[in-house]
Amino acid sequence: MTAAASGLLRLENLSVTFPGRGLGPESSRRLRAVDDVTLHIAPGEVLGLVGESGSGKTTLAKALLRLYRPSDGRILFRGADLAALGERALKPFRRDLQMVFQDPLSSFNPRQTVFEALATPLRLHKVCARAEIAGRVAELLAQVGLSPSFRDRFPHELSGGQLQRVAIGRALALSPSLLVADEAVSKLDVSVRAQILNLLKDIRERHGVSILFITHDLHVARYLCDRVGVMYFGKLVELGGTERVFGQPRHPYTRALLGTLEDALGGGIEEQIAPPSPAGCRYASRCRHRIDACGAAHPALEAAADAGGGHAVACIRWRALLDSHTTDKSE
Ligand SMILES: Nc1ncnc2c1ncn2[C@@H]1O[C@H](COP(=O)(O)OP(=O)(O)OP(=O)(O)O)[C@@H](O)[C@H]1O
Ligand SMILES: [Mg+2]
Repeated sequence: MTAAASGLLRLENLSVTFPGRGLGPESSRRLRAVDDVTLHIAPGEVLGLVGESGSGKTTLAKALLRLYRPSDGRILFRGADLAALGERALKPFRRDLQMVFQDPLSSFNPRQTVFEALATPLRLHKVCARAEIAGRVAELLAQVGLSPSFRDRFPHELSGGQLQRVAIGRALALSPSLLVADEAVSKLDVSVRAQILNLLKDIRERHGVSILFITHDLHVARYLCDRVGVMYFGKLVELGGTERVFGQPRHPYTRALLGTLEDALGGGIEEQIAPPSPAGCRYASRCRHRIDACGAAHPALEAAADAGGGHAVACIRWRALLDSHTTDKSE
C-alpha cells in the first residue's frame, strides 16, 4: 500500500481486550474494549471519534499511543508496526505521537512552573541546544495564545482554559505529527471551549499536525473534524466525512446518537455489557430495526455505496432502512 493510501497512521484490525466481563465462553471472558477496528488518519487531518461512555474511545487512543498493548492487529506508522515493538524500539516514535487529556491540572506537576513544564520535554528529547530553550518556550507560549508572563506561573494559578493551552503547547513542543485529544475541551466552559477548539483548528492549519479528537459532544465533533468515526461497544460502526455522517447517518446507532428519526436510545452501554448474541451485531440488543439475520455475525464495515467518499457503515440493514425512511417521509 502506498503512503498516501495508508495515511499518516493506519490501524488494521486493532483489538484490545481486558480481563473479565467478556461476552461469552469463547472469548475467555475477556472484554473486547476495542474490537477489530480498521481506520487511518491522513496527514493534517482531524479525525473525530464519538460514541457513548464505555464504547472504547480512550482504549483505542491509548493503544495507538502504545500506552496499552493491543491484543491483535497492527498500528502502521512511519513504516513500522507499533503494535509489534518493544519499549526500546518504540522510543523514537513516542515524541511523534502526543496526547492532551481531559483534566489538564492532573497532568501537570504542581511544583513546576509553566516554563519547566514546557522546557522538560525539550531537554529530555534534546530538541534544541540549552541556550535555545528559553526562546523555544516563548515561541510555544505564543503559539498557544499565552503572553510571555505565563512562564513563571504555577498550574494552580491558571484557569482551565489557560492550562489546556499549556498542555497543548507541551504536546507541540516535540513537533509531533499526531496529536490525540481525549475529551480535551469537555471540562471547559462553553466560551473557553470555543477558544480551545479554534486554537486546535489554527494549529492544524499552521503546523499540518493530524489530530485524533475524542469527544462525547457531537456539536464539537461537527465543528472541528474532517471525518468522524462512531464507536459502539468496541466496534467502529460508521465512518465517513463529517458532513456525510451527520447529514446522512446510516447506522441506526449513529441516528440514535444524533436523535434523528425515531431511533432514540434507551438504557446505557454499561447495562448492555452482555448483549444477547455475542456472535451477532453488537448493537442488535438495542436496535429497534433488528431482524433475525442481525444475530448471525457483527457486520463488517462496508461502503455506504450511494454516499461514496469513504462513507462506511457496519449494518446489514442500512439500505433497507434508507428506503423505508424515504417512503415514510413521502407519505
Ligand atoms: N484499564 C482497564 N481495565 C479494564 N477495563 C477497562 C480498562 N479501561 C477501560 N476498560 C473498559 O473498556 C471499555 C471501554 O472503555 P473506554 O474508557 O475506552 O471507553 P470510552 O469510550 O473512552 O468511555 P468514556 O466516554 O466514558 O471516556 C469499558 O467497558 C471500560 O470499562
Ligand atoms: Mg474515554
